[in-house]
Amino acid sequence: TAPPPATERLPADAAGLAQAAALLSAGRLVALPTETVYGLGADATDPVAVAGIYAAKARPSFNPLIAHCPTIEAAMAEGVFDDHAQRLAKQFWPGPLTLVVPVAPGGTVCELARAGLDSVALRVPGHALARDLLARVGRPVAAPSANRSGRVSPTSAAHVLADLDGRIAAVLDGGECPVGVESSVVACLGGPPRLLRPGGVTREALAAVLGLWPETGGEAGAKPVGPGLLASHYAPRAAVRLDATRIGPGEAALLFGAFRPEGVGAARAVETLSEAGDPAEAAARLFSALRRLDASGAAVIAVAPVPDIGLGEAINDRLRRAAAPR
Ligand code: TXA
Ligand code: MG
Repeated sequence: TAPPPATERLPADAAGLAQAAALLSAGRLVALPTETVYGLGADATDPVAVAGIYAAKARPSFNPLIAHCPTIEAAMAEGVFDDHAQRLAKQFWPGPLTLVVPVAPGGTVCELARAGLDSVALRVPGHALARDLLARVGRPVAAPSANRSGRVSPTSAAHVLADLDGRIAAVLDGGECPVGVESSVVACLGGPPRLLRPGGVTREALAAVLGLWPETGGEAGAKPVGPGLLASHYAPRAAVRLDATRIGPGEAALLFGAFRPEGVGAARAVETLSEAGDPAEAAARLFSALRRLDASGAAVIAVAPVPDIGLGEAINDRLRRAAAPR
């Protein structure tokens, strides 16, 4: 059989943007940079295009996708925003926040992208290139992280191609993603807002705008609100061991700040997320560091403790998922 057609790497210029927009408008799959991670985009109003996302990622089809819009106005036309949602949108959009709200009458995001739910996840990304592309497409673009399902999220075009070359039409190359972890997902579905996934906007920053401390997830015993919040996720090939205070011989080490665990001298590979102990710098480097440690061939990646402060909450969430039983 013929090899799959190679994925085109489009430059971040007017011609590249025009081609990316044309492909998306024609129902094709295009990976695009955002400030958080690269997204695997498809026209969110076209169920056939959206089905292509699930197929390319090999993602369970019950997992709903985020619809990306170029402006706050465009996003607000797709959902019903209560007072909490309006305040969060005004403060954090464009930016690394996703709001889950009831679908607006006349909302255009297709049922498949919502996985049949009567709510919709909306985000206005802060990345200039992404917003330019979205404006050119003129329709919401569904985009999960552009990796194979359950694998480490991509923060460069090279990461995208490593997972999806030949499975998607193109990747728009916008360089490295500055935030490096996915958006925070907040559900505003009546009642107090809930933080379904910690991410690029810290819980502290959300609390300051809401005037209340957002709780995690849904009520006990209720149907999970984020059906895609699988335990094992963001997983490298190697096993991941958390809270490591010593490194075994041949293990790869993921470090934070000035702490040097015992035995680190015999590690197979070492990455330090942030020498200075800055959680934002650490978040920006997290996924590429995991990929490099994985490429060292070590059977185990031992992870030194990361404080749960600021973006540290999102980092620790991703690390716990990477370490969860597969
Ligand atoms: O930063 C990001 O959010 C990246 C970039 C590309 O924008 N996208 C991303 O998408 O991380 P994805 O599909 O990997 O994560 C979407 C999350 C999942 O945890 C999913 O379960 C949740 O949002 N979600 C989407 N729609 C939902 C809904 N209607 N109700 C509850 N959770 C929802
Ligand atoms: Mg993902």
